[in-house]
Amino acid sequence: MSISNGTGQSQPSAPTSALATTIKPTDLRGILKYVPRFQGQIFIIAVDGSIVADDNFGNLLVDIAVLRSLAIKVVLVHGISHQLRELSVVRNVPISNSDGSGLTDAATLDLAIRASSRVAHIIVEGLTQNILKCATTNAVRALPLGIIKGVDQQFTGKVERIDKEFITELIDRQVVPVVSPVAFGPDGKSLRVNSDLLAAEMAEALHATKIIYLTPASGLEIDGEIRREISVDALKKMVLGEPERIAADSLSKAAHAIKAIETGTPRVHILDGRVFDGLLNEVFSNEGVGSLVYGNDYAQIRKARKSDVRMIYNLTRAAVRREELIFRSQQAIEKNIEQFFVFEIDENIIACVTLYFYPDKQHLAEVGSLYVMPFYHNRGIGKKMVDYACMVAKERGTTTIIALSTQSFGFFTNVVGFEETTKEILPEARLKVYEESGRNAKVLMRQIS
Ligand SMILES: CC(C)(COP(=O)(O)OP(=O)(O)OC[C@H]1O[C@@H](n2cnc3c(N)ncnc32)[C@H](O)[C@@H]1OP(=O)(O)O)[C@@H](O)C(=O)NCCC(=O)NCCS
Repeated sequence: MSISNGTGQSQPSAPTSALATTIKPTDLRGILKYVPRFQGQIFIIAVDGSIVADDNFGNLLVDIAVLRSLAIKVVLVHGISHQLRELSVVRNVPISNSDGSGLTDAATLDLAIRASSRVAHIIVEGLTQNILKCATTNAVRALPLGIIKGVDQQFTGKVERIDKEFITELIDRQVVPVVSPVAFGPDGKSLRVNSDLLAAEMAEALHATKIIYLTPASGLEIDGEIRREISVDALKKMVLGEPERIAADSLSKAAHAIKAIETGTPRVHILDGRVFDGLLNEVFSNEGVGSLVYGNDYAQIRKARKSDVRMIYNLTRAAVRREELIFRSQQAIEKNIEQFFVFEIDENIIACVTLYFYPDKQHLAEVGSLYVMPFYHNRGIGKKMVDYACMVAKERGTTTIIALSTQSFGFFTNVVGFEETTKEILPEARLKVYEESGRNAKVLMRQIS
């Protein structure tokens, strides 16, 4: 196994004894910066049946062991279409549908159960070889899909409920749940479900950080090329309006990536499971090897309105008492309301920030009044607010953002890329106010050009 800056080309696995020599200290630094970011987060790894059958699958399981060793919680969802089609040929039994998205008749269900048992066994065997505890479960409840366009879908199911307490308990006990695309109906009988859908449902139920779909394609093929990154909005527009732009074998992943993001999973990766080191490269480098579908990080941020004044005032009162923020009366907030941006969850304002443009210094703007309600701390909201303000400032032609902070300068320098500077950077009038305040705040700046 190797955690090198691989080229993404298939290559033989290096023996474990070579590990110490293949990792350079500089590689490690690059990787380790991701470790605190992902620690304790849940990744849904969804493997197509054809990837389980591929030569690289053993390497993938080693990569999953690496993720586990870095305290990333992994749930493995697998598909079976490839094995189902193979069984159909070997046994000369025609199947009604292979991927669980169409009608499943009794004969197909029977083969699907056999294929699923076989695939789950291969995965359990491989995880065992990597000294990982794992478990197959009956945590997915399904309902028959019913009659679609006049056709009874028979044994095809849709996910009704995921027993998330059960799965969470397994994860918390360092067990990797292995989830099959044959679920159980209310009567305990088997129903075939599509594994791409299952992964999306699992991610929603567990509040996973990401889904990684491992497929036999290099990513999402759009207009004949692999698209490295696409926003969910752009992808949805395409799926609904111009589906012909998306390659046929990318369509299911595209549709389920949209579903996953719309139900709260921030990111979905689609990558080639046959590529050696692909999984680790995708997770631990800025240049992923597959396609990334991402949600709009800033969807919950909007400009403040006059009707928000009281909520902003109440929100920031505690911070004013602790001298983290300067006092602003409701009138002062109202007067400067166009400077405020707020972060809204379920119509409640839980964070705010101001952005002030100096009229006589076009290149300079200041962020201030940054506040995140304590319940929501450490979820990246503070960083999003500052990054958003910087983005808005950049669009207006600003090149330097400043911030003054007495107690949170560590946040500005360590988390949002500011550096300490001197008060001389402040425009004359601002310098005067700064000196008169006696707060002796640190002056920080970030170049955004
Ligand atoms: C500072 C503040 C906005 C951060 O909001 P947040 O949503 O928790 O921030 P994020 O989730 O984006 O970032 C969390 C990171 O910031 C770090 N951080 C938060 N406050 C910090 C501080 N005062 N000094 C150093 N680091 C700090 C956390 O330790 C965490 O670090 P990690 O990612 O290495 O674990 C929030 O703590 C707050 O509202 N504080 C009170 C008001 C205030 O001080 N505002 C700044 C006025 S200039």
